[in-house]
Amino acid sequence: MYLTQEQLLIYKNQGYILLSEYLSLTEVEILKAELSALSTENSPKRILEKDGSTVRSLHGLHTENDVFNSLTRHPFIVEPAMQIVDNQVYIYQFKVNLKAAFTGDIWKWHQDYIYWRKEDGMPRPQVVNAMCLLDDMNEFNGPLFLIPGSHKEKMIDITANPRVTNTKSDKSGDNPAWISSFSANLKYSLSQELVADLVSKYGITFIKAAAGSVLFFDSNIVHASSNNISPFGRSTVIITYNSIENIPLQIQNPRPDFLVSKDYRPVTPLAPDALSQFSGVKL
Ligand code: SIN
Ligand code: MN
Repeated sequence: MYLTQEQLLIYKNQGYILLSEYLSLTEVEILKAELSALSTENSPKRILEKDGSTVRSLHGLHTENDVFNSLTRHPFIVEPAMQIVDNQVYIYQFKVNLKAAFTGDIWKWHQDYIYWRKEDGMPRPQVVNAMCLLDDMNEFNGPLFLIPGSHKEKMIDITANPRVTNTKSDKSGDNPAWISSFSANLKYSLSQELVADLVSKYGITFIKAAAGSVLFFDSNIVHASSNNISPFGRSTVIITYNSIENIPLQIQNPRPDFLVSKDYRPVTPLAPDALSQFSGVKL
């Protein structure tokens, strides 16, 4: 399902496009059922909140789970990604952010591309995020905040925040260096002054949309989310598609494969009903 020229223009101008109720409720149910089984598994791919027990994120599930793998190849998602990136794409990153009811923590103001550039050596921001909502996102449950148009500032080259975080990855023992890209204490978060300037220049918005909606957003758009003190969970899957001609350069100490995939094979879209066929199937 390709975007119209008008939708592409919206994406280019504001740095994001929201496709409301884009996946079916059957597909959402399939994904949520799968997620509840997986989030209890103890693994280094599972990141916990500061409390040491709430699951914050799950990484790289698409490599080991057929349901999430089908989501990454859903034509409704891959085809717009290819259009936006203007090339064939591979999966650069796959994560589920759970933002649990009552306890889900914040994501500070940041741009994504600075991480991919500085931590992984990605040459250009020829990459796009597809955020798939598995729950309704609203004013109560820590919705995604965006500064529309802020992607036009390109990568804002800030120095890394040296603060240590106490977020833990299961079984990791001491925190590995990469954890500071996934905890509430983000490594390249923007200063309050900078965010205030950008908001006075571009304004601010937040995403309010039903489960099944998909948000495509630019790797340089400034975004954040507050904590979730509501009784409503706010889980999303974020799939990052990179151009097959934008493969990261060789760097020292690359991040683990489950965070930054080294599988550069182009994603081929499946049939539109491939994911819904898992309905009622016990895997
Ligand atoms: C992110 O920036 O990757 C996540 C933001 C969110 O889940 O609110
Ligand atoms: Mn981000």
